[in-house]
Amino acid sequence: MKLCMVGTGYVGLVSGACFAETGQDVICADVDEDKIAALNAGRIPIFEPGLDAIVSRCVAGGRLRFTTDVAAAVREATAVFIAVGTPPRADGGADLAAVDAVAQVVAEHAEREVVLVLKSTVPVGTNARVRRLVREARHRVHVVSNPEFLKEGDAVSDFLRPDRVVIGCDEDDTFAHEMMSRLYHPVCLDRDRMVWMDPASAELTKYVANTMLAMRISFMNEVALLCERVGADVHAVRFGVGSDARIGAKFLYAGPGYGGSCFPKDVKALVHTAREHGMELELAATTDRVNDRQKGVVFRKLRQHFEDGLRAKRVGVWGVSFKPRTDDIRDSSSLTLIDALLAEGAEVLAHDPEAGAHVRDRYGDRVTLVEDAYEAARDADALCLMTEWREYQNPSFERLAELMRRPVLIDGRNIWSSYGLRAMGFAYDGIGVRGS
Ligand SMILES: NC(=O)c1ccc[n+]([C@@H]2O[C@H](COP(=O)([O-])OP(=O)(O)OC[C@H]3O[C@@H](n4cnc5c(N)ncnc54)[C@H](O)[C@@H]3O)[C@@H](O)[C@H]2O)c1
Repeated sequence: MKLCMVGTGYVGLVSGACFAETGQDVICADVDEDKIAALNAGRIPIFEPGLDAIVSRCVAGGRLRFTTDVAAAVREATAVFIAVGTPPRADGGADLAAVDAVAQVVAEHAEREVVLVLKSTVPVGTNARVRRLVREARHRVHVVSNPEFLKEGDAVSDFLRPDRVVIGCDEDDTFAHEMMSRLYHPVCLDRDRMVWMDPASAELTKYVANTMLAMRISFMNEVALLCERVGADVHAVRFGVGSDARIGAKFLYAGPGYGGSCFPKDVKALVHTAREHGMELELAATTDRVNDRQKGVVFRKLRQHFEDGLRAKRVGVWGVSFKPRTDDIRDSSSLTLIDALLAEGAEVLAHDPEAGAHVRDRYGDRVTLVEDAYEAARDADALCLMTEWREYQNPSFERLAELMRRPVLIDGRNIWSSYGLRAMGFAYDGIGVRGS
């Protein structure tokens, strides 16, 4: 079986490499020439733990190739995966231009009966839309929905040991059924993780999963604000609530709002889909609004420490990626903070273990990017912790106290709340926590 992965980004590269790791013959295609040139030169264009070893092993083994010639890659394939971006449009709906473009290439260039798999996150109805686009192809194209649930930072293990593999496929389509079963068999050896359903349900499942997780985060962010009003501690509430087996402990952390390339756009897209069908998805719409407000929380807290405003104040920012273990800064809450600081006339010094190149691309010399985290605190009037990278978890606060002009710490992730920082002379603020 020859597999073609179209779109070689966070999802496409991980999925293509992991399929190659399980023995498939994979060609990854992308229109981004720089990305493909980097991959062909042995460089991985994203930071994702464990990915480089798999890519180099599979390339050396001849099972993984990269190309910008999408049509040629499609011509040799028996399964074509679409893993291109589906960014938000201004109205909140998903932009399907890249998905359509790939479907068009498949319609024109497939040289055999082929399974076309929608791995990108796409609104309900996209499977049906793609079927219409490939109707005139010379050979039969079986269109299957297979939304991806991997998490950046753990993408390789999520792909190779998934909680579940959701496949939306016509019940009577034995050709597609067999091919998808064979492809995912190696990651389902210990137990059957494949969840079969109709394509519309598979498409919706992805949005509902992301929106439900986003909702938990937004609810806890609101609870954190309430904790501050009533003198409670969100850590304690989280432990108390999360130990209920019906609720579970995950995605209950208060913080500076969720970011990344998925939750914000997927919540908006689900709301948009519902509106297109004449209904208001109240909880999802509120989740989106709560998150927009929460993204400004660190800036608002910071401002309270400076009666004369933040103009010409020097502010360090630790962490720009939207979460640890990735270099992805798309829709990160750190960007909201940095934008607000710059708009106010503050000087910003930023540190991130992996996202530096993206920070430079976005801000150029408007933000001073430092190599050593402590340099972001030198002569700073405040330091804001935005991403809970491991190296920020237990810094030398004595050193920070020496370096900083004013000892103001805003802990956007509540990772320093138990360290007794106020007793050390810091002005400390977390999100809904009583400690430090
Ligand atoms: N990033 C995640 O954690 C994640 C997780 C699950 C699902 N998803 C979904 O997967 C999809 C891809 O996300 P991503 O984060 O990998 O995006 P990405 O931006 O990292 O990668 C998309 C790639 O598609 C390429 N591309 C665009 N148009 C193309 C075309 N016509 N032909 C060939 N290549 C083309 C781009 O150059 C880019 O390299 C999105 O729908 C996203 O919502 C993402």
